[in-house]
Amino acid sequence: MERLVTVEEARFTLHETRAVGKTPVGFVPTMGALHDGHLALIRQARTECETVVVSVFVNPTQFNEKSDLDAYPRDLERDAALCAEAGADLLFTPDAAEIYPQGFSTTVTVDGTLSRLLEGTFRPGHFAGVATVVAKLLNILQPDRAYFGEKDWQQLKVVERMVADLNLPVAVVPCPTVREPDGLAMSSRNTRLSPEARQQAKVIPYLLDTAQDLLDSSNREMPTNLGPVLRHWLLTLLESHQPTAEREYIAVVDPETLVDVNEITDRALVVIALRVGGVRLIDNRMIRVRAEVSRF
Ligand code: PAJ
Repeated sequence: MERLVTVEEARFTLHETRAVGKTPVGFVPTMGALHDGHLALIRQARTECETVVVSVFVNPTQFNEKSDLDAYPRDLERDAALCAEAGADLLFTPDAAEIYPQGFSTTVTVDGTLSRLLEGTFRPGHFAGVATVVAKLLNILQPDRAYFGEKDWQQLKVVERMVADLNLPVAVVPCPTVREPDGLAMSSRNTRLSPEARQQAKVIPYLLDTAQDLLDSSNREMPTNLGPVLRHWLLTLLESHQPTAEREYIAVVDPETLVDVNEITDRALVVIALRVGGVRLIDNRMIRVRAEVSRF
């Protein structure tokens, strides 16, 4: 696996790669502290592409709090070994000055509900930071396919919107969320959980699974305001199971617009952001009206 540090090196190497026909080029952007969720993206890219490039860049512009940025786990040597093992050909690890040189003044913002709601409410400016760095990385590396996790569903939708709106010549490939055996979504932040908080965090997959069960059991009646009813049930369950968890949001939304839904005719996305033991965790799950459950 070759390491690329400067934009010039990355451009040159990717140009050569394309010139010799080692395409399609698959790209997995990350902030490092790699875990099996990231590695699943790299492995999927490996099966679908001739060349796989991974980036590790802890992007300062998408952090709301400097303390969060400073506390972000960094271990480039470990990440490089994991990337190589998962089958990456190229690893791009620019420093902040390479991506944001003196005088940098351009920001890519995706307007509307996709950036404004949910994470947008609690992390103002976060998606502008994400969209800007992803646009830059896509321009530098010019991959054919870019892999994003459904774990960060809202980010995936923001990136899809930006790629469509700016006619960027790349296919965005969504990848399923990888979970721990007890259902907790893998996240770089999980390493910051105390043993007690790690136990409390289990409430998140529990609520997401229960949302589908509740949808199944309400199929016979299907009230027109099932979205708010489900949300209310989930809030009550959270209160009874894990009253100390600090809730940022629990919502039942349209997966494409992220706006709260009333009626659920086909599918809806349940999204959750909680702080347990001071660590902020987000997760989501698509719930579906199952055809096999009889309705009358
Ligand atoms: P990071 O949090 O490192 O995540 C990199 C990619 O891995 C994202 O597409 C994310 O959705 C995916 N991912 C994380 N946990 C996952 C899991 N448990 N299962 C499946 N995929 C998972 O997301 C970012 O970095 C940054 O915002 C970035 C896109 C790199 C821009 O800076």
